[in-house]
Amino acid sequence: MDDVLSARLDALCAEGWEIFERFDTEVRDRAFHPFVNADYELVRAALLPHCAPGLKFLEWGSASGVITIMADLLGFEAYGIELDTNLVATACALAKKFQSRARFAAGSFLPTGYRWQPSSGDGRIATIGDGESGYLQLGRSLDEFDVVFGYPWGGEEPMMFDLMKRYGRPGALLMLHTVNGGVERYRGNHLMAPLTSPGQARTS
Ligand SMILES: C[S@@+](CC[C@H](N)C(=O)[O-])C[C@H]1O[C@@H](n2cnc3c(N)ncnc32)[C@H](O)[C@@H]1O
Repeated sequence: MDDVLSARLDALCAEGWEIFERFDTEVRDRAFHPFVNADYELVRAALLPHCAPGLKFLEWGSASGVITIMADLLGFEAYGIELDTNLVATACALAKKFQSRARFAAGSFLPTGYRWQPSSGDGRIATIGDGESGYLQLGRSLDEFDVVFGYPWGGEEPMMFDLMKRYGRPGALLMLHTVNGGVERYRGNHLMAPLTSPGQARTS
């Protein structure tokens, strides 16, 4: 990666952390909000080996937009869907500041008509909110994306696997940031080996 891009990504991550700190005191201290930011540096390292021109990236619950913008700067055609319209506005402003073509939709990452129906019968979806599906606004369906990123709260992972199984492109990569701070990669909902070096993912 060239130094200019690297510096731009550093600045984006730094600004992302600042946005979250402000959000934490101004919004989360007053009432529960599901936005907690991923470890941007870890996500950046996880995305890097998977970049290739023309690949499409989607972030489920894109919040302040940092990860979607990062994916765009790394060369993906990048999209984010976020339910909170204030966060979408923050993401669009951040994209403009970083001259990014990342696109954001205010809506839900759940496709229209989707219902989570696990075999346990408990179809509650924890912190995942309801809203009009965002895919139409983006002009893209879930099966068009090569890489999908999400940061589920604990227990929300099975629903995300179900979404990929039912609507995702076979062979697409699902990246989940875990509550423990690592980034797990799945293909066909099978966990891939952890990244031990930046070059490893190219062959897996
Ligand atoms: C744990 S945060 C992750 C934020 C961001 N992806 C990151 O990693 O920094 C989850 C985000 O998903 C959003 N969200 C919750 N339900 C959603 C839904 N159905 N559709 C779109 N976004 C949703 C929340 O508002 C929140 O911003």
